[in-house]
Amino acid sequence: MRIVVGISGGIAAYKAVGVVRALVLAGHDVHVVPTAAALRFVGRPTLEAISRNPVETDLYEGVAEVRHVALGQSADLIVIAPATANTLAKLAAGLADDLLGTTVLASAAPLVVAPAMHTEMWEHAATQANVRTLESRGVLLVGPVSGQLTGKDAGAGRMAEPADIVAAALDAAVRANPQLDRTIDAAAPRGLDGKRVLVTAGGTREPLDPVRFLGNASSGRQGVALAEAARDRGADVVLVAAHLEVQPPAGVEVVSVRTAEELLAAVRREAAAADVVIMAAAVADWRPASVADGKLKKRELGETFTVELVRTPDVLATIAAERSRPGQVVVGFAAETEPDPGRLLALGREKIAAKGADFLVLNEVGHDLVFGKPETAVTVLNAAGDVVGSAGGDKRSVADAILDLVVPA
Ligand code: CTP
Repeated sequence: MRIVVGISGGIAAYKAVGVVRALVLAGHDVHVVPTAAALRFVGRPTLEAISRNPVETDLYEGVAEVRHVALGQSADLIVIAPATANTLAKLAAGLADDLLGTTVLASAAPLVVAPAMHTEMWEHAATQANVRTLESRGVLLVGPVSGQLTGKDAGAGRMAEPADIVAAALDAAVRANPQLDRTIDAAAPRGLDGKRVLVTAGGTREPLDPVRFLGNASSGRQGVALAEAARDRGADVVLVAAHLEVQPPAGVEVVSVRTAEELLAAVRREAAAADVVIMAAAVADWRPASVADGKLKKRELGETFTVELVRTPDVLATIAAERSRPGQVVVGFAAETEPDPGRLLALGREKIAAKGADFLVLNEVGHDLVFGKPETAVTVLNAAGDVVGSAGGDKRSVADAILDLVVPA
């Protein structure tokens, strides 16, 4: 597809080179439009060499071909990374005092922006109002994520990783126009070509009555990142999804489930054809013993009442015991609240032995750790309980690291 990458003047501009490069390697025709400020951070020769196209920034270049609107009119997708607070404000206001501004206004293509700025600027009411304006117009924001900023400070405002921006932007383009090709990066590992991968994601909910349930804090982000990473490696992916807080990736088959029982049924059905099963979902361990037909009423139950819970099936242990396909790799997750690394590892070893999986991805969770967060850190154990690797960072990079360990190319 034809993609315009706008770059505005922030230190993260150097990372935009990675966005351009990934899109070019995926076979797209990429036109870079830096703002004047962006060119103080990355040079035009770099952008021309990486994008393999001339780079213009001035409204008064190429006037004969009506360049200030032609780029926008012909684009299938516009990505702006990084988008500074100033650029967000200009976009929200519809300013067109440079080539990037006119290109955006002259285009009906999906617009994906990756903001990057200091936390204070990101949180400022003006920036947030601009963000809301852009979102209300259908602009997709990727990030910012939390992490180390340019100075000594850390917080929300860091630009999302280039791979995440590229994936989200291509998804947005394909969603807007399904005829477009989301060409896969030729340089990316394709070790799962022809393989079927089953990933579970999200958290199950066990009903108590028609309006209440016992649930958990899983957002489904890690499972979704795994499904996406497996898809990008050429796998045929089925995602068994329980109450995701994030969109499932494009190009992946989604089976929605609500309870542990439903998840077991779906996983059993799908596992029969799967070469790899990754159980990232947080499955409830108990469910209310009975589900009321009508809403439970306070006046009938009083100040306290007791709910009897019964165990749900252990899906991972069941699947690992059944091994419905020869050579199938079964990967479990363990969410533990144990802060001591030695004891955390011991819990992981106990768990993988009890579950019979081939690998266990171990992470420490807590009230404000991991669940719902973009970043995570994991340690991967094999069936013998040995540590085979560890990874940290955004959930997509961790997903890639997990795949590298459990299904090496
Ligand atoms: N799991 C499962 N079925 C359940 C509970 C958990 O398949 N009923 C899976 C999860 O998808 C995960 C792994 O088992 O891959 C470990 O989940 P975790 O909650 O950490 O372990 P539990 O077995 O529930 O043990 P406990 O909560 O007692 O630590």
